[in-house]
Amino acid sequence: MTTPDLSVTVGGLELANPVLAASGTFGYGLDLDDLCPPERLGGVVTKGLSPKPKAGAPMPRIAETACGMLNAIGLENVGVDAFCRDTLPTLVERGVTVIVNVFGASPAEYRAVIQRCETAGGIAGYELNVSCPNVSSGGMEFGHDPALLEELTRLCRDATRRPLWVKLSPNAPDLVATARAAVAGGADALSLINTIRGMAIDPYRRRPELARTFGGLSGPAVLPIALRMVHEVHRALPAVPLVGLGGIETGLDAVRFMLAGASAVQVGTATFRRPDTMLRIIDELAAYCRKTNTDRAASLTGALEEIS
Ligand SMILES: Cc1cc2nc3c(=O)[nH]c(=O)nc-3n(C[C@H](O)[C@H](O)[C@H](O)COP(=O)(O)O)c2cc1C
Repeated sequence: MTTPDLSVTVGGLELANPVLAASGTFGYGLDLDDLCPPERLGGVVTKGLSPKPKAGAPMPRIAETACGMLNAIGLENVGVDAFCRDTLPTLVERGVTVIVNVFGASPAEYRAVIQRCETAGGIAGYELNVSCPNVSSGGMEFGHDPALLEELTRLCRDATRRPLWVKLSPNAPDLVATARAAVAGGADALSLINTIRGMAIDPYRRRPELARTFGGLSGPAVLPIALRMVHEVHRALPAVPLVGLGGIETGLDAVRFMLAGASAVQVGTATFRRPDTMLRIIDELAAYCRKTNTDRAASLTGALEEIS
């Protein structure tokens, strides 16, 4: 068989392959350049950006768990101005598909980040983080309330003609209701999932391992939950493009998410363990396509055969 076609279209974006770096685990796109050049990926989702720089949560803010990790970074970031000035020009020059992950403490702040990026140019699209469990105000509320989420999405939709993705909260009481709300507000695609709320305790010190007590769980431990959520939303809204993530470590994991309904995938925690993981996943995906006589990786999306 000839080389399989790995290109996919998702939520208004054409990607050379379906493997993207997940927000918060690949810096601003160039941090792991020597081990994982960003132009070889389907795209890079930046660390969440706010209008002004943000210091984040007190230490310790990362804890290792069985099959995963907990984080409570608190959305530390350099601010949208610094990103547009210092990093974006290099990414654009190198032909990287850049998706800016956006968050704010208010709808106006989300909109301000998008408006600033629009003046910079070269950005492929946006992903709204309405699902971060580590901030005391803002993100969480939008992701849990369908009416608020629809309003926020519409406000951001009005600020850009570029593809707009909304990253859903796995902690929301009704996942499908929030998915519908984001689409009603004008989302082109939905990313799922963000981290799942959890905690870890040091039994000898009798203290939580994270300074903020609670954090977000990621890594292989969350994969079956993420897969279920992708498939649930795909069943409810089959026409809506989905970007699947949560615990992906191998090419076969990526295939699993695509079969469940995802058009593309993102890889987060696995990059911490091995910074070149995404390059390996792309190779493994191509190998799977060759082995199964799949000409186009895009044909995997939603191709799950249910057991009747
Ligand atoms: C240290 C860390 C920082 C993160 N920061 C963000 C962020 O800024 N915005 C966001 O939408 N998601 C953020 N996430 C969530 C990831 O993008 C991803 O949704 C989650 O970790 C599940 O994927 P994984 O199991 O492959 O890591 C972060 C995750 C980690 C581990």
